[in-house]
Amino acid sequence: MPACAQRASPQSERMRELVHLVRQDCGSCHGLTLQGGLGPALTAAALRDKPRDSLVATVLGGRPGTPMPPFHGIVAEDEAAWIVDRLQEGFPADPGAGR
Ligand code: HEC
Repeated sequence: MPACAQRASPQSERMRELVHLVRQDCGSCHGLTLQGGLGPALTAAALRDKPRDSLVATVLGGRPGTPMPPFHGIVAEDEAAWIVDRLQEGFPADPGAGR
C-alpha cells in the first residue's frame, strides 16, 4: 500500500477524464445534469450538508441493496474525494461534451 500521500488533486488530464466519467457514467443514473434520475440529485444544494466522508464511501463502496454501484478500482480514493469535493461545490461541465 502506498502511503496515503494527499495529492492536492489528480493531474489535469485525469481530471478531465473524471469529469467526463461523472457526467457520463454517474449521469446515466443521476441525470446528465446530475439533477437526479434513478439516483438522487448530486447537485451542490443536495450534497452540501452531507458528510463528505460518507459520500466518498458511497462512491467507492456503492450502497448495498440499491442500484448505486461501487466505483472502487475505477477511481482511486483520492479521486473519489476529489469528485465529492467538486460535487459539493457544483460539478464542472464536461470539457469533452458538445464537441
Ligand atoms: C446504476 C445507477 C447508478 C450509477 C451508475 C451511479 N449511481 Fe450514485 N446512486 C444511485 C442510487 C440509486 C443512489 C441512492 C442509493 C440509496 O438509496 O441510498 C445513489 C447514491 C449516490 C450518492 C449518495 C447521495 C446522497 O444524497 O446521499 C452519491 C454521492 C452518489 N450516488 C454518487 C455517484 C457517483 C459519483 C457516481 C459515478 C462515479 C454514481 N453515483 C453512479 C445510482 C447510481
